Amino acid sequence: MAKIPVWMDVDTGLDDALALLLASNCKDVDILGISTVFGNQSSDKTAYNTLKMCEFLGISVPVAVGARKGLLEPEIDYSKGLEMDVHGADGLGNIGERLPEPKLKLSDLTAVDLMAEKISKCHKKVTIVATAPLTNIAIFLLSYPELAEKVEQILFMGGAMYGGNIKPTVEANIGHDPEAAAIVINSPIPKVMFGLDATMQCFITDEERNQMKEIGGNVGAFLCDSLDHYAMLYQTIAGLPGAVLHDSLPMAWLVDPTVAEVKEFPVEIELTNGITKGCTVTDVWNREGKKTNVKVAISAKREQLLKMHFDALTKFA
Ligand code: RIB
Ligand code: CA
Repeated sequence: MAKIPVWMDVDTGLDDALALLLASNCKDVDILGISTVFGNQSSDKTAYNTLKMCEFLGISVPVAVGARKGLLEPEIDYSKGLEMDVHGADGLGNIGERLPEPKLKLSDLTAVDLMAEKISKCHKKVTIVATAPLTNIAIFLLSYPELAEKVEQILFMGGAMYGGNIKPTVEANIGHDPEAAAIVINSPIPKVMFGLDATMQCFITDEERNQMKEIGGNVGAFLCDSLDHYAMLYQTIAGLPGAVLHDSLPMAWLVDPTVAEVKEFPVEIELTNGITKGCTVTDVWNREGKKTNVKVAISAKREQLLKMHFDALTKFA
C-alpha cells in the first residue's frame, strides 16, 4: 500500500510524545517533517523536547521551530510557571533530563517555510496532523495560499463540542490561539476535529501505564514515568482513572478510522473577548442552518487506542 504523506505539528508535551510514539510505528505513514509551536511550554522547550523524543523514538525527519505566541495573543511568560502545571516545567513531566542530548538539529528554515518546501515537493496531497495551537498551520495557509490544494486534510486535536479544559467551554489548543483556529476552520480544506468529547474517553490507568514499562524497555519506562504528575492531575481534577491520551487520537484515526466515530457539523470559533473566546461552537442541531464544515470526533475506543501504543512499544523491548 502506498504510504500516506503526513506533516506533524506539535507542542511536545507529554501527550504529543505519545503521538510521536504512534507515528514511529505507522508503517503506512510517511512523516515528511515536524513543526513545533508554543503551547504546553515555550517554543524553545517544545522544539527541544521534540528533537529529544524523535531521536529517542528513532524518528529521523526534519524538525523546524515555529510560532512563539498566538497571532493576536500576548506571549506567555513561561518562566513564571503556568497557572496549571500539566506537563511540568520542562514539558516532559520534569524528567526530560533523563533523555540524552539530541544529535538531531533544528532546520535552518522556519516551520512554515519547511512545511511549504516539503508539501510543494510531495507528489501526493499531504495530511496535516496538528496536536497543538494552530498558529503554524494558520500562518502556513496565509503565507502559501497556493499550497492549500496540496493539503488532503487537517486532523487536529483541539476544541470540544461540550465543555473545556482551560475555561468552562474552551480547550487549550484552540484557546491559546483562537484567531489561528478560526483561519484553519474557515479554510476549504477538509478537517477533522478530535476534541475533548472523544479524547477524554481515552485515558490510561496507572496499571496500564506500568504495563508500558514491562513492554517497552527504556522508552516504555520513560513514557510511564513522565506521565506520573499528569495522571495525578487528571485523577484529581477531572476525576478520571488515569492520564488522557489526547494527542494520539488523530494519528491513530488516520491509520485506523474505526478508533473514533466522526460526524460532520457546522463549527465556528468564538472570537469575542471574554470567557468563551476560543470555544468551538458546534451546531449539533444545525439551528443556524449553516453548511457543515468540520468532521468532529464524537466518541473514541479507548482500549483500541491503548493497544496501538502497546504495539508501538514492543519494538523498544
Ligand atoms: O487540551 C489538550 C491539548 O493541549 C493537548 O494537545 C495537550 O498536549 C495540550 O497541547
Ligand atoms: Ca499537544
